[in-house]
Amino acid sequence: MSEGAAKKEDRRKFQAIRGTRDLLPPETELWNRVEQTAHEVFATFGFGEIRPPIFEETELFARSIGEETDVVSKEMYSFPDPLDLGEMYAQYRSLETTSPGAGQFAVWANILPGSQLIAARPEATASVCRAYIEHGMQQLPQPVKLYYLGPMFRRERPQKGRYRQFYQIGAEVLGGSDAPAIDAEVIEMVMTFFDRLELQGVQLDINSIGCRDCRPKYVELLRAELLKVKDKLGPDSQRRIETNPLRVLDSKLESEQGIIATLPRIADHLCEECAKHYAEVKHQLRLRGVMYRENWRLVRGLDYYMRTTFEITAQGLGSQNAVCGGGRYDGLVELLGGPPTKGIGFAIGEDRLILSLQESGKAPAAQGRDVYIAWMGERAHATAVRAAKDLRKAGFSVELPPMEQKFGKALGQADKLGARFALILGDNEVASGEWTLKTLADGSQAKFTERDLLEHLRKSL
Ligand code: HAM
Repeated sequence: MSEGAAKKEDRRKFQAIRGTRDLLPPETELWNRVEQTAHEVFATFGFGEIRPPIFEETELFARSIGEETDVVSKEMYSFPDPLDLGEMYAQYRSLETTSPGAGQFAVWANILPGSQLIAARPEATASVCRAYIEHGMQQLPQPVKLYYLGPMFRRERPQKGRYRQFYQIGAEVLGGSDAPAIDAEVIEMVMTFFDRLELQGVQLDINSIGCRDCRPKYVELLRAELLKVKDKLGPDSQRRIETNPLRVLDSKLESEQGIIATLPRIADHLCEECAKHYAEVKHQLRLRGVMYRENWRLVRGLDYYMRTTFEITAQGLGSQNAVCGGGRYDGLVELLGGPPTKGIGFAIGEDRLILSLQESGKAPAAQGRDVYIAWMGERAHATAVRAAKDLRKAGFSVELPPMEQKFGKALGQADKLGARFALILGDNEVASGEWTLKTLADGSQAKFTERDLLEHLRKSL
């Protein structure tokens, strides 16, 4: 590369990677409020926070979520560990020097499959189950109730409400029984959280997708029925008749809706145990005053679910309107090498939750500073530094300009920052001990001693 080209390259502007974005103030205030509310509400239900790592073995997700699912087969950011890559390269180099051409083949055919793949987590249920096993949490009083917040990664096509790095707030209940009251309480907890945030247009859909006994029979029946109408279905659904017929029920394709409406419904094919469990979940929800709608087409896109599934939509989200999804996953811990364990949980899409709150005007207005200190002169500067320290200690948000400014300019700056008050400190104020406080909204001014000022601010802010 020529020097000129290198320089040009150096000046290249970087941009956030497609599907990722910066969350900036004042929006981050809303994110913090939402997360704070989650900590508070979940604690009242006895949940403790878990912070699993952001990357895990690819195999953990593949086995939990299912090899055939979109999340695992198309959307996962999975890569060889850089250490393995280094070793692979060394092997390649040594083979290439002894017999040219052999390295290329040996590396890709033999070494890569043996190297460990790691993935940026596309969800966290698998991680929580892994942690439950790894830390022997089955020894703790059951069930273990955990929640998490943080970024997840899926290589989806970005659009409003759909990102490649997105954030989830999720909770899992592991161990103990599969009592329907647990399902209902988990759902009640999300609804309480949404209620506290005043989320608008909340709609809860529930379903039961049966268990290992009854679901395969229903899936076969569904497959048989779908084969009869195969020609009328689109290519995606045609493929799913073979791979996962349940997912056909998820189809949003207008032309398929009439056909889907005539298909057999799982609720009519649940085994006795599952039917009883589902009826009791609904009873428990009613007991808690949780409004729900039964949606027999709600099957969810991840393989680990059984029995109860649910999804919550909210206002103002367009086509990506699922703000929360969850369900029961008894057997997942066992599938990951742990003891037989019941499990249920959910994850909220925090980006979508925030979008919906913003659309319905529930976002707080940007908060300006409480006090802007306009100071002039060296003595006033020392006083201003001390005043800033004291005001901040008392909990006020204070802007202390680092350099002297003319009062006019300082007041303009205070205005731009949305400050409520300007504290004016000049030679006169320092000499008399009487400080001038200007209320920026109406321009009124009053004088206060240092002590009275704190009192006055406490009352008016
Ligand atoms: P999920 O339905 O794949 O379930 O995701 C849950 C929620 O995460 C969705 O309803 C949506 O709000 C949000 N979400 C998913 N993908 C994106 C994306 N690309 N951009 C923005 N938001 C997104 C799970 O992840 C399960 N682990 C939930 C669970 C926990 N089930 C049992 N326990």
